[in-house]
Amino acid sequence: MIEVSAPGKLYIAGEYAVVEPGHPAIIVAVDQFITVSLEQTKNVGSITSFQYGNLPILWRRHNDQLVLDKRENPFHYILAAITLTEKYAKELNKSLAFFSLTVDSELDSSNGRKYGLGSSAAVTVATVKALCQFYELEDTDELVFKLAALAHLSVKSNGSCGDVAASVYGGWIAFTTFDREWVTSQQEKRNYSIKELIEGDWPCLSILSLNPPVDLRLVIGWTGSPASTSDLVDEVTSKRRRDQQAYEQFLEDSKQCVNLMIEGFQTNDILLIQQQIRRNRNLLVKMSQDTGVVIETPALTQLCNVAEQYHGAAKSSGAGGGDCGIVLFNRREGLLPLMTAWEEEGITNLPLHVYNTK
Ligand code: PMV
Ligand code: MG
Repeated sequence: MIEVSAPGKLYIAGEYAVVEPGHPAIIVAVDQFITVSLEQTKNVGSITSFQYGNLPILWRRHNDQLVLDKRENPFHYILAAITLTEKYAKELNKSLAFFSLTVDSELDSSNGRKYGLGSSAAVTVATVKALCQFYELEDTDELVFKLAALAHLSVKSNGSCGDVAASVYGGWIAFTTFDREWVTSQQEKRNYSIKELIEGDWPCLSILSLNPPVDLRLVIGWTGSPASTSDLVDEVTSKRRRDQQAYEQFLEDSKQCVNLMIEGFQTNDILLIQQQIRRNRNLLVKMSQDTGVVIETPALTQLCNVAEQYHGAAKSSGAGGGDCGIVLFNRREGLLPLMTAWEEEGITNLPLHVYNTK
């Protein structure tokens, strides 16, 4: 039997701006995993997941037609990951076979609690990796990232794929996304080869591993309320037109802020990193005011303000609207008083660690 795990993720900085090619984000992989098991079968295949069994299928209306929102249901990511990896395997003259695929997730609890740790990215990455083993394909990080990113594009995900990169590369990464229109146009060409597409350079894509300063400590707080990243990104995309100039400024400022933060990693400068975390928080708060989309909820504001009282640099993580906030500390600061203060505010500390794949 083949068994492959892929980690979840948390955004540290650069959210929303990272959806635009060339704008950096910092993301970490965390030590909670999705595991995919594969076993060869005859004549019929199957997909089983205990966590996804009772997930609702979301739909919306478009011109009175019922349209499924595939972006929230992990089964669609699994199917897309299988389809794309098998297309690649076929181009390498492998013959396709049947298998039973089972998903086990630590990222989604069976009672439906969501932490926002990137479960659709991790399930896509684990499925691509398991199939690469099944068809005996060499699975470099770049190959797995690109196949999983193509799977996300095919599900019409509006994300940057930073979560996919974190799940593949592990540790701390600086990420800028690829030019999605370029990738789509390559796929629309006649006789398009997925092998050629994967072996080529993708404009604007960059994934760089970062070495955190030894004394840098990441603390995660969970607000207890779930949020839909794809809905929030849709909302920002439609409302950014309200003041296009303000949004352009946000993109520029976020880029400058995250690039300085990256410099902080490269020069072991915790203070510089913390300064830019606070600046990024303010940039997101301002963008949220300009667009009217709630990113830092009252619970996230509480989470951040309490953490700041104990000398942490705090901000909402990811799309916000609930889920988690992150705090960066200098290891010399004591953390226990913060945990007690958070508890009093109904914030839960998630005892996760950054996961290094190598
Ligand atoms: O809410 P999360 O942790 O899935 O993060 C979303 C981050 C965004 O930049 C808002 C979207 C994206 O895919 O990059
Ligand atoms: Mg989220």
